[in-house]
Amino acid sequence: MARLVLLSDLHLSHTHGFFWDNWRRARDAANAADADMVVICGDLCINGTDSDGEMALAGRALARLSAPWRAIPGNHDTGEEPPGQAPDQIITEARLARWHNVFGADRFAETVGAWRIIGINAQLLGSGLPAEAEQDSWLDQELHGTDLPIVLIQHKPLFLSDPMETAVTATCTTPAPRAALLRRIRGADVRLVVSGHLHAYRDMTINGLRYLWLPATSFTGQPHAGAVPMVAITSIDLTTETPEITLHHPEGLRPIDLVELKQGRYAFLRDMPACPPDEAA
Ligand SMILES: [Fe+2]
Ligand SMILES: [Fe+2]
Repeated sequence: MARLVLLSDLHLSHTHGFFWDNWRRARDAANAADADMVVICGDLCINGTDSDGEMALAGRALARLSAPWRAIPGNHDTGEEPPGQAPDQIITEARLARWHNVFGADRFAETVGAWRIIGINAQLLGSGLPAEAEQDSWLDQELHGTDLPIVLIQHKPLFLSDPMETAVTATCTTPAPRAALLRRIRGADVRLVVSGHLHAYRDMTINGLRYLWLPATSFTGQPHAGAVPMVAITSIDLTTETPEITLHHPEGLRPIDLVELKQGRYAFLRDMPACPPDEAA
């Protein structure tokens, strides 16, 4: 069997350990899953956009995965693609550098079983940074440099309900870069697009292309477009050209509600009283 394990939206912090217990349960389940590869689908941090300490903690956390792993950034790691939710949270060269210092690359291409797995930094899409153009040309090479069917992984969903939708929201990739990426995808043998970000599970096929939204390991999201808010880890059997997707619910993984956690008193998790994680656990 060729097994890919997917973990998403860890939201770890060395000062705010709300989700550390969930992380270690997800990590232990991933380590017990006999994975050929683990992919972490972004939002490793709560405030990695401005915190060396958080990024360093995320690096130490992933070092305790036993299988080979690759990570791609989310908006809580390198910042949002513009226009973003707040002007002070947009992706910058400095934020990219913080990621590179801990994790090296922010994209990857690997073979697992009968599939080619390509992960990209979706936070670059529409950013205009030089790294966006570099990633585009790298992606074109990777998409056409294999005879295998392709799984494309990025942090944000490409769209909510319709590839042609025009709303600009923080929930998914903005329309212009989405259209460009979809043209690339349709010109290659991409069969499955995997994303995190919304902390909710969804599995749909549109125009022959399958889209999988991953549950988080940290807290539950909103039921955007009929998705099911959920904490879980996900595995995909990629032994054959028919992928088998399975959700796993490790014992003790708690469906933490963000509104309840913030007690209606705090806008951001980073504003809450410090509660460092027990990193040894
Ligand atoms: Fe997230
Ligand atoms: Fe996110």
